Amino acid sequence: MQLLIQKCDLVDISSLDHLLNIKGLEVFLHSKILPSDFYGLILHVDQNGLSLSSSENPGASPTRVDFSDDALQYRLQTSKRSAGLLKAIGLDKYSLPLRVMDATAGLGTDAYIMAAMGCDVTMFEKSAVIATLLQDGLARGLASADAAVRNHLCRLSLNFADAGDYLDLIIKGPDCMPHRSRLDQKPDVIYLDPMFPPRQKSAKVKKDMALLQKILPINDDIESLLDKALASATKRVVLKRPGKQSKQASPKPDFQVPGKSCHFQVFLIK
Ligand SMILES: C[S@@+](CC[C@H](N)C(=O)[O-])C[C@H]1O[C@@H](n2cnc3c(N)ncnc32)[C@H](O)[C@@H]1O
Repeated sequence: MQLLIQKCDLVDISSLDHLLNIKGLEVFLHSKILPSDFYGLILHVDQNGLSLSSSENPGASPTRVDFSDDALQYRLQTSKRSAGLLKAIGLDKYSLPLRVMDATAGLGTDAYIMAAMGCDVTMFEKSAVIATLLQDGLARGLASADAAVRNHLCRLSLNFADAGDYLDLIIKGPDCMPHRSRLDQKPDVIYLDPMFPPRQKSAKVKKDMALLQKILPINDDIESLLDKALASATKRVVLKRPGKQSKQASPKPDFQVPGKSCHFQVFLIK
């Protein structure tokens, strides 16, 4: 994958040095103009932080992580749209703070909603580019003028790591856990929102998710991730899936919760 870093003159990009060492990522640094033979991702760096677009669709507005975004704030206030997610993680059943491991953080929207509802959320993201975008959004959010956003973000932490590897450590036992990890105890809830194959009705896929689908591999490790999660959570595991429901899910969830264009399979830990 090629990644072009486009920066404006005054911005320091030393915090992006780690991207130079990511296997499979060929990084170019260019100030403004896209080389004609370039095919890949464009990371825009300016005074407003980072945003990402694809050379395939240079006219589209770039994707950024913005926890102060009006649409996200509106979604929090009109609880209906997040009701499925919150019911699935058991917010109506358990007392707070609920310790949630979001094993597939992506752009952090679901994690933010859970944190805003009082959960302590530890995010894992294995894509270096997406984790960088998310880290930038967290930093800007923590510096935002909006006290509510800052409060919510205090309950969110991010690990740039493969969640499967971390679950292996949890399964091996406390002696194998890295020191001072927020997850040195087992999480109450593990939330999995893997990359689905692109849907037929691609017009319905939101712009940001369409970009993720373009650049990230489909999760072909869902079964193994789910097995590890089931061996690690203390209360439940939630798996988000496309469509209204799964008829022949395996393993069979204890129940399913419908979402807007998805559903949540809920596995209770007995
Ligand atoms: C569908 S997106 C998640 C969207 C997210 N729920 C949100 O609200 O923005 C899936 C993300 O999980 C990440 N991912 C997939 N498998 C992972 C793993 N084993 N460990 C960490 N991250 C993973 C992908 O890189 C991708 O960014």
